[in-house]
Amino acid sequence: MNMKIHFKNILLASLFQVAFLLISQAQTATDAWRPLVHFSPQKNWTNDPNGLIYFKGYYHIFFQHNPIANEWGNMSWGHARSKDLLHWEELPLAIPHGEEYIFSGCVVWDKEHVSGLGDPQKELLVAIYTADYPNKKQEQHLAYSNDDGLTWTKYLHNPILDINLLNFRDPSVIWHNSSKQFVMSVAKPTERSVQFYGSKNLLNWELLSEFSNQGELDMIWECPSLAELLVEGSEKETKWVLFNSTQGVQKGFVGMQYFVGEFNGKTFTNANPPETKLFVDYGKDFYAAIPFYNAPNQEVLWLGWALSWQYAKEQPTFPWKGQMSSIRKLSLINSPDGLRLKQEFRPNFSEVEPTFQIKDVSITKSKVLSGIKLLQNKSYIIELDVEGTTSDRWGLKWQSADNLQEFTVVGFDEIKKQWFIDRSKSGKILSPGFFKIDSAPWHEGESRQLRVWVDHSMLELLAQDGIVAISSLRFPLGKKENLSVFSDKGKLDLKQIRIWELK
Ligand code: FRU
Repeated sequence: MNMKIHFKNILLASLFQVAFLLISQAQTATDAWRPLVHFSPQKNWTNDPNGLIYFKGYYHIFFQHNPIANEWGNMSWGHARSKDLLHWEELPLAIPHGEEYIFSGCVVWDKEHVSGLGDPQKELLVAIYTADYPNKKQEQHLAYSNDDGLTWTKYLHNPILDINLLNFRDPSVIWHNSSKQFVMSVAKPTERSVQFYGSKNLLNWELLSEFSNQGELDMIWECPSLAELLVEGSEKETKWVLFNSTQGVQKGFVGMQYFVGEFNGKTFTNANPPETKLFVDYGKDFYAAIPFYNAPNQEVLWLGWALSWQYAKEQPTFPWKGQMSSIRKLSLINSPDGLRLKQEFRPNFSEVEPTFQIKDVSITKSKVLSGIKLLQNKSYIIELDVEGTTSDRWGLKWQSADNLQEFTVVGFDEIKKQWFIDRSKSGKILSPGFFKIDSAPWHEGESRQLRVWVDHSMLELLAQDGIVAISSLRFPLGKKENLSVFSDKGKLDLKQIRIWELK
């Protein structure tokens, strides 16, 4: 045989082998990283949550979805619903793309049938979202549903809003009661600007005002939303908050910021100086959150995409990529620095008996929580309620049972006065920067309490009764891990440790 051909055959065979190996590796389901109660699609890609709405006893989430591949593309709206915020039922694809990609947006309940769309005898949901014509332009479109969001009809006379821009997206609509109109917040991302539009019928939108160039400006602005939040401790004092997704606390990584102020039905006025930067979450994995429309008891609830654009492609999960954060209740709290966002986990497990509880415990060095073995591969919230400490650094440490070099630490640094999540040794590192410690400042005068929601690859820290939030993903390689409470160079006195298992 000709040597050249022989060599070519060997080369081809080895190439096939390598390709086969790569494909079969990529095809292995990564169940150990799939959150149990946080939503992730059965398969394929997701990014932003869209169209969050509570309707007829169900919390609905729609989500940016590629229905055919585990990577961004073919953007359409997926759909899931839950009665209790713990069990999610994934439903058929809600809004498929056509020539246009279906980008982020919202869903409202057209209770009075002001749009005149659909069957007037049936309840009507209206979705307003960005139609993206790749590299051409973005305009706002509408679709409606008479079957509780299962199937949608794209409005015949779309677009409902078009200002001829390449970047103009992510409409979020609320009902503004005092001006008796729907108000849309929508981003002009490259201009770092949010426009507000008003409408009586959801079809015709009139420009109200524009808010721009304040707060964080290094990265584009996306996914804006307006919410009226209760100020804690007051009977019914409220303030308006404008949120948007942009650069987060760490340079070069996305995150979310907020502005506290007033909205009078036309204009949003920032109560703080324009250069004030307030961040929602100090982790790298909380983005594009929007509030639920029509949430029960007039609470403002939201959830975000728990991943970062900086390394989303590298998320090593299969057959899905992308997952949602916990649902959090929002309010404002009067702190010495001014009004600050407070987030609380929902459902409200605090009212439920904990699965595991130890009272009045002092820790020097470290204590392994043996009861935690029962919670291996479960989803749970752990709370440390601190009485006092003389230590330099204290918190929780999850350590791989078969590799002592693999661990994740969450806690408080008493020297730097910082809360932190350290995932630098937590297993798979997805990108440079992924291993950087996420830390958040201490709020003087507030509690030293810490709560962490653990759900496989998800870690969410809400500390000091929810003024501090850090959300970080991690991808442990070890199969089992031990959890301990530690206290470096000093004593940690705890009023109690409580753990709730979430089923
Ligand atoms: C935010 C975002 C939105 C856009 C969507 C596209 O993560 O970039 O601005 O609508 O994702 O998937």
